[in-house]
Amino acid sequence: MLTQIQLAFFIAALFVVYTSFLQARLYLKRRQFAKSHGCLEPRCKVPLKDPVLALDFVWKTLQNAKSDRYLEGTYERFQQYGSTFTAKHLHYPTIHTTEPENIKHILATAFDDFKFSSFRVNAMIPLFGKGIFTSDGARWSHSRAVLRPSFARHNMTDHLPFMESHVDQLIKAIPKDGSVVDLQKLFFAFTMDTATEFLFGHSVHTLYNMQLGNDAVADDSDANFVDSYTYACLDIVHNIRLGALSKLRYSPKAKQAQKRAFAYIDRFVDEALALRNSSKSSRADETSKYIFLNELAKETGDRIELRDQILNVLLAGRDTTASLLSNTFWELARHPDIYAKLRDEVAFLNGREPTYEELKDMKYLKFCLNESLRLRPVVPANTREAIRDTILPRGGGEDGCSPMFVKKGTHVYYSVWSMHRREEFFGKKTEEYIPERWEGLKLGWEFLPFNGGPRICLGQQFALTEASYLTVRLLQKFSRIEARDSRPWTELYTLVAYSKHGTLVSLTPA
Ligand code: HEM
Repeated sequence: MLTQIQLAFFIAALFVVYTSFLQARLYLKRRQFAKSHGCLEPRCKVPLKDPVLALDFVWKTLQNAKSDRYLEGTYERFQQYGSTFTAKHLHYPTIHTTEPENIKHILATAFDDFKFSSFRVNAMIPLFGKGIFTSDGARWSHSRAVLRPSFARHNMTDHLPFMESHVDQLIKAIPKDGSVVDLQKLFFAFTMDTATEFLFGHSVHTLYNMQLGNDAVADDSDANFVDSYTYACLDIVHNIRLGALSKLRYSPKAKQAQKRAFAYIDRFVDEALALRNSSKSSRADETSKYIFLNELAKETGDRIELRDQILNVLLAGRDTTASLLSNTFWELARHPDIYAKLRDEVAFLNGREPTYEELKDMKYLKFCLNESLRLRPVVPANTREAIRDTILPRGGGEDGCSPMFVKKGTHVYYSVWSMHRREEFFGKKTEEYIPERWEGLKLGWEFLPFNGGPRICLGQQFALTEASYLTVRLLQKFSRIEARDSRPWTELYTLVAYSKHGTLVSLTPA
């Protein structure tokens, strides 16, 4: 007869033998998988002082972020370890890459093998619910199918006149006596105003309120929404940074801000639903004004889903375009020759508003925006997590040109910021702003400001048109722009990357 202790030992031994068997079987299966795909050992594994949790690697990353050098820090690592290398981040394995072939593989060829990183998604869910930025798999397909028609029905030609009143407000807010203005602040206000008008059919009039010196007073005021939404977004950034530790954190102020933002948006959602359910089913078509939310309500009548998706599109649409504009004007203020060349390009308009077709034909303007998106990509880095064992086409073997095995659960971090600095793709002096480099440049996955594959940005055309239009209007109204800040461009990396010190300039009216 076995004693109880002997029985416990026996069960434990069985358990150890069984799990070892499973591990060995998995190991052999993976080895076979890697062999059949021609995978070789990664060319470079980052030497870690702490091989268990990689705390030295994580510490260095945090230090870089603290001194506003997170993006530069990642770039230095690629210079040190090559274009694809493996490391760890706490307990999970990571692969870092700037190889276009690898990025194409993650985002397109092997799209189904990867999902969004769970840290980011978990941190975003409280504010962004089950929207497109927090979804993968079937739920993402549904989100994309719901959002796409609303983007497709939007006509950019009709969008320009509607933008003009906001441009007017922005120009009014710029001092005409040469005193210093932070254009970045104005661009954020401008894109908030245009995005809310586009999405809800009602602008929050941030630029107007700023000029009047209006503060966020009433709970349901437009200004209060902007404050609450901004606060709730910053709280999310904080949680993304904390990763798993964010579970230990609770901010009543952020919860309150979220509630206020929801209450504000729900008003418009209810209006859109009423329109959807109204007996006059063609009312939406009768009104000439395009309202994204009304279009979206044709695809779904789910109140929470409408709110979630609209908040997601607001996130995508507001900060991104503002950052692109801000980064562009930061450079223009330091390159009077480029500013003058742009003014020459728009001179044929004689001060009138450009049409959509005319905007599309402005070659040098396109070069300038491309160069901004190259040098300071608004979404400078991204991560995908492998949901099954898979491969990357580059990074294995002595020369890094062979495929490498990617274990399920590995986080693949791709740095667009660093890829956009590779001289073999973009020519010399990639740290400098040189729009002329785009003459004759033909690129594929090497230039990736808007992502690629099935999850390519839905608002690319919207963003480029809005940025081009506002830039042209400012070029027409101001003959000169001068930098009023001698500090170098310093990153402020939240959900997007922009200038920590703003875009301090002075402008001379034309
Ligand atoms: C310069 C401006 C913009 C840049 C650089 C940009 C960049 C990006 C990037 C990199 C992604 C992929 C994110 C990821 O998969 O992790 C993305 C997705 C997306 N963008 Fe944009 N974006 C811009 C403006 C806009 C605007 C103005 C809108 C809407 C009005 C918009 C709507 C979206 C949506 C809905 C997605 C999600 C697509 C999906 O997951 O299927 N974007 N954008």
